[in-house]
Formats: sequence, structure tokens, C-alpha cells
Amino acid sequence: MSKNYYITTPIYYPSAKPHMGHAYSSIIADFFARLKRIQGYNVFFLTGTDEHGQKIQRAAEKVKKDPIAFCDEISKTFKDLSKILNLSNDDFIRTTEKRHFKSVENLWNILEERGEIYLSKYSGWYSVSDEAFYSEDELDTIDGIKVNKLSGSQVEWVEEESYFFKLSNWQDKLLKFYSENPKFILPESRRNEVISFVKGGLKDLSVSRKSFTWGIKVPSNKDHVIYVWLDALTNYLSALNYPDHNDNKFKSFWPANLHLIGKDILRFHAVYWPAFLLAAKINPPQRVYGHGWILSGEEKMSKSKGNILDPIEIINTYGLDPLRYYLLKEVSFGNDGNISKEKLESCINSDLANNYGNLCQRVISFCEKNTDLKIPKAGNFLKEDLDIFNNYSENLKKLSEEIDDQNINFYVEFILSQLFKANKYFNDQEPWKKKNNIDRLNTIVYVSLELIRKISIMIYPIIPSSALKVLNIFSIQEKDIIFNTITNNNFLKEDHKILKLNILFKKVEKND
Ligand code: MSP
Repeated sequence: MSKNYYITTPIYYPSAKPHMGHAYSSIIADFFARLKRIQGYNVFFLTGTDEHGQKIQRAAEKVKKDPIAFCDEISKTFKDLSKILNLSNDDFIRTTEKRHFKSVENLWNILEERGEIYLSKYSGWYSVSDEAFYSEDELDTIDGIKVNKLSGSQVEWVEEESYFFKLSNWQDKLLKFYSENPKFILPESRRNEVISFVKGGLKDLSVSRKSFTWGIKVPSNKDHVIYVWLDALTNYLSALNYPDHNDNKFKSFWPANLHLIGKDILRFHAVYWPAFLLAAKINPPQRVYGHGWILSGEEKMSKSKGNILDPIEIINTYGLDPLRYYLLKEVSFGNDGNISKEKLESCINSDLANNYGNLCQRVISFCEKNTDLKIPKAGNFLKEDLDIFNNYSENLKKLSEEIDDQNINFYVEFILSQLFKANKYFNDQEPWKKKNNIDRLNTIVYVSLELIRKISIMIYPIIPSSALKVLNIFSIQEKDIIFNTITNNNFLKEDHKILKLNILFKKVEKND
């Protein structure tokens, strides 16, 4: 039976061009998607754009564009970025697509039919930038302007007829759900935040707006548009052809295994979304992971602060794989992090060029001179060969468990430690001094090539195109990468030709 795995990124607002924060969420999701694929899962990886609501309508008005023309243009920059980031997404959903309307309208109808939605009047604070309703105690007044304490975004007073979702009915059921599914929200600190928010009491949630038109209309009352978050969250279902429960995609991939999101949108995913789904008798997703922010200096990036880091600029200067590696290694996953050029350059010089690149180059050039660029026949493995091989089999279970809890840093550290060991092995074994013991020389080369293969498989989800260049020298193609083969110590076949390898990472010259 094939194992299925459904992973999603948040769908991004096409209100402005993508920035490093968006790239971060997408790269992390791609890492998990690729890892799960090579672990033998049938993966569905979804990303896309969230195109309705007042925020987008106003952004379009500001540049005097029709909202759909505006969205077409900016959504394309997100789609283009997914190519630039080498994302392996299986679909890219836009909430302005027909397939999505159908799902949202259906979910709304079910909630209405089940008596979960009623018509009343909303009066309270609303942040267009966050597309969120806030209560008085979530606000601060700065220079006479009311802003949300966490996001810092300005709120405005709204008074209008609105449909409400009976969120207050779901408080106890949600708390029960969290306690029965202790890993529904990770990391732990975010789970605690959510639980204390829910314990503090839930008010019914306004789920429609009347004062603007850019959205999906309430099916039974065309004067209202559906609240953009109810619309947006449903994208995770529409991409699986919901409401068609018999559709293969829906049957195979729902409930989602992992909604990867930034911590700023935790409440929507960990409170409102499971409540909507439970109310509609649809299973909630298995996990919501709220990662930290990529800060620019000490602050969250935002257009208004003018401190946006452009991923494309960094990629043009340093390359994509170094950026991917940096974000996965240097940001403690779950916490905030920032991009430091010094650290990025040191990742390239030390880890990628000196460690991974160097291991590959020196072993392969040794093969060129001594084994006619062929995989040599290994003799008997000695204790030092078996010791280094055993690292992989002994740690594989732990590695898989850690990664199933999204412990990316553990995974990267494990690879780094194996890289150090492999380089040390080649140094200590000194195959260049074994020319009078060809059997041993061949064995050392064989072991070193096996180590390169194992490490390249493990590092593939992080730096896919560089790892593939290395795996290609063994004629291993992307579709043939299998994670579990890292415990096989005789995978490489004697006498097979090895291809030459061009420089993998150029070192960054430091001028100081
Ligand atoms: N459209 C909503 C999400 C709907 S999901 C059903 C939204 N869009 S957003 O474009 O504002 O942000 C989406 C996500 O981008 C954030 O949750 C986060 O994952 C990522 N990031 C945006 N800025 C970020 C940083 N500065 N750092 C890291 N990630 C951040 O919210």
C-alpha cells in the first residue's frame, strides 16, 4: 500500500511582490516534500495565492487596476518564484479559480445547513492588513492610532450586518481535540499559546462582509462576501477537488499531514480551521507547524517598514542552494532568524565548499588518477570502514523520528557530523600511501564513494540541484533516489563508470 503525504504552504497574498519570508515558508515545505518523496511517500505538495478580500481590493485600487488584473500580475510573480526556488510543488492554487469557488460555496452551505452560521451585526475592530477581527484587549494605542499588539497593524472600526460562525460552541470540543492530538500544533510553545487563547473563551466569529465586493458571494445572500480567511483556508480542500469525496485526490490526501505556516497565522489554522472542519464533519488536518519569522535586522519584514529582503537578489549573488542551506541550517526551526551575509558566506565556504564540495572533489579526482574513474572492487571491510557505515544504520530510526516532529536542525547537524567523519576517514586512511596494497586502496575508495552517495541522498532535500549533480556521477537520477538505501553499504556496483564532477560551490572571496 502506498503511503500518502499532503503538505501545504500558506497561500500568499498577492498584494506585493514576494519577499524572503514567503521564500522561507516555501523552501521549508519543499524540504519536507522532497524528503518524504525519497522516503517512499506519495506526496502532494500545494502552494498558491490568496487573492480575495479588502486588503487586495485596496491594493488594486491604489494602482487603479481591476482586482483580477492586479492579482494575475502579482500571482505570477509568486508562481515564478516557485520555479526560481526549485520548489517541487504538485499544484499552485489561486483562490480566484472556479474549482476553489465550488469548494468554498459548498463548505459554506454545509455550515449554514447545520445551523452553524447565523445573520447578525458586527461592530468592532478590524485590521485590513491582517484581515482579522480584534478585541479591545488585543490593541494598543500608539500616537493616537489603534494597532494590534502583535502585528502592529492598524485597525479600523467596522459596523455592518454580518454572518457569524458559532465559534463559541467549539471551545470545549477544540480543547478536547488538542488534548487527544498532542502534536496537532507544533512547536510546543505555540501549542500552549493556542490552548491558552481558546481557554480564555471564544466569541462567535464574523464570517462575511458587506461593505466591499471582492470575494466569493454568500450563496444564499449575494449582498455579502465570505470572510477571506474562511475562503482562503478552504484552498487546502479545493486543490483535492473537494466536495467530491470520492475523488481520488481527496480520498488519498485528506486529512493533510502538515500545514506549514508562519506563527502570525496560527490562530486561523489552529483554532478557526479545525472548528470549521469539525462543524462540517470533515476531519481536521493532522498537524499545523508554526515557524518563526525571518527578520530584517531585528524586525519582521514589511512593505510599510521598507525593510524587505528580496530572495532573488540573494540568489543572484550567492546561488539558490546556498540560500536554501542557510535557511535550513542557520535558522533554529520554530524560532525567528535573520539573514546575515557573514554567516551565509561562511556556510558556503565552510560547509558547502570545504566540507561537502571538497569531499566529493578529492575522492573523485583520486578515482580519476587511480581507478580509471571506475567504482573499484571493495575488499574486506575493516573495523574503521564498518564503524563509519554503522553511523547510518544506527541513527536512521532516530533521524526519521526527529524529522517526523519537524526537527530540521537535528537533521542538518546529523549530515554535518557525517561530512566531518567522511572527510576525516579519507584523511586518516591515506589511500595515496596504499599504492602497494591495491586491495586496501580500492576498499578505501569504495567506502568513500559510498559515503558520498549516502550524504548526497540525505542532503538532497536541502540542496536538491547540487546533490543531484553528485548523484548523477553514479548515474542515479532524481526519480531513483531512495532514502533507505543509505543503510546499504554495497549499493555501488563494481566497475561502473563514474562521471567527472565540476566544481559544486565557488568559495566567496572575502575582501577584508
Ligand atoms: N494569505 C494569508 C495566508 C492564508 S493561508 C490559508 C497570509 N499571507 S501572507 O502573504 O501575508 O503570509 C503568508 C506566510 O508567509 C506567513 O504565514 C509566513 O508563513 C510567511 N511569511 C511572511 N512574512 C514572513 C517573515 N518575515 N518571515 C517568515 N515567514 C513569513 O497570511
